[in-house]
Amino acid sequence: MDKLVIKGGKPLSGTIEISGAKNSVLALMMTSILTDEDLTLHNVPYLSDVLTLAELLENFGITIKVKNNGQPEDLYTTKENNLSLTLNGSTINNLNAPYSIAKKMRASFWSLGPMLAKFGKATVSLPGGCSIGTRQIDLHLDTLKAMGAEISISNGYANAKVNGRLKATNFTFNKVSVGATINAIMSAVLAEGVSTFLNCAQEPEIQDMCHLLVKMGADIKNIGTSKLIITGQDKLQGATHTTMSDRIETGTYIAAIGLTGGSITLNNVDFESIKNLIDTFKKTGIQIEKTGDRTMQISSDKQIKAMDIQTMPYPGFPTDMQAQFTALMCLAPGTSCITENLFENRFMHIPELQRMGADITINNRTATVVGVPQFNGAKVMATDLRASVCLVLAALSTPEETIIDRIYHIDRGYCRIEHKLAKCGVDIKRVK
Ligand code: EPU
Repeated sequence: MDKLVIKGGKPLSGTIEISGAKNSVLALMMTSILTDEDLTLHNVPYLSDVLTLAELLENFGITIKVKNNGQPEDLYTTKENNLSLTLNGSTINNLNAPYSIAKKMRASFWSLGPMLAKFGKATVSLPGGCSIGTRQIDLHLDTLKAMGAEISISNGYANAKVNGRLKATNFTFNKVSVGATINAIMSAVLAEGVSTFLNCAQEPEIQDMCHLLVKMGADIKNIGTSKLIITGQDKLQGATHTTMSDRIETGTYIAAIGLTGGSITLNNVDFESIKNLIDTFKKTGIQIEKTGDRTMQISSDKQIKAMDIQTMPYPGFPTDMQAQFTALMCLAPGTSCITENLFENRFMHIPELQRMGADITINNRTATVVGVPQFNGAKVMATDLRASVCLVLAALSTPEETIIDRIYHIDRGYCRIEHKLAKCGVDIKRVK
């Protein structure tokens, strides 16, 4: 298993290209199930989650051609960061998502809706538990049942079928769920009639998927709001789409500059999706200046101000930035309270931050952080994607050596992080 060895303590300086968004590209790739025509996606980040989803789609029979700068590439061995994929779903011949793949990635369950909508049946492995919480699937199943699907659960699989086409529905989510909203949208675009969904998740990645579906011929009204009205079509066509930039990767590098000081340029930034995050970071004292349509200069003198945050569905503070923000607050003089409202077990990074000298107390869903002058180096262990990257951030701030184990979690969602940081002057290496 790979480890990252980091000796930080130096201000960052240089330029980082923000990659395509993980949580967007997974949804975009999944829409290839819905059409028999070519779907071409640009700005696809090289991430292990992308490889896992490619494996799942290929297991269904979907063909995937990969290019880098117009030249054919091999998805599984490429050294490039930014790929173009052309997926074709006309060859789907297997409607079964096996446990061996689904266990690696919860988003595999997003295949249930589009499979049912296109083929009238599907068997998809339940995603199982997860280190950040129980992560139910009741809402995914309830929407599909409301659309006429019969679903039984046996031997760890959801077996779903529908008599004819899925039927439109009026459905109110009793909780905001990104994945259940994605499954519902991908089902309704091919269902019979007009569906109305209330209390939908509004995350920018969902909006990105809706914009692609509209290019494919879907009729989706009120994109970007909590009330979606979708008129089902008989079929969808192919399309070409550029994956939006990753707002969480952007936020992660902003938190990094707060911890290290220095000044860096971020390119390929999607400003619209991170407006609120930028406002929050500015309040901590990090300077953020828009220097072009998709470029920002971020700098800090390491004088970070403590502040309280609580995670909420978009446009609130993202749960996927909670761990990174917690690391930042560890070096802010004073006390800050971090409340995690979305997942019941998303403080796994805290014992590891404590090993690095952080002063944090957890009480139910709130972590109270008392700022310390600096982190110390330590051997620590990554437990999930965002928990892992917050350890990288802590390590960047201290000249002592930090060794982070189990970094396969980071590779799920951060495209070649060690290369990007090394280009900004960080002493970082990946070792076996
Ligand atoms: N929930 C239910 N029932 C359901 C579905 C969800 O009760 O049927 C609950 C969950 O248990 C959780 C809350 O609703 O408490 C929110 O879960 P949601 O369904 O929104 O999360 P998700 O779709 O499983 C996506 C992202 C996560 C991100 C969350 C919240 C992807 C691939 N995953 O997960 O991303 O944290 O939305 O924004 O898009 C990450 O990137 O590190 C990551 C974990």
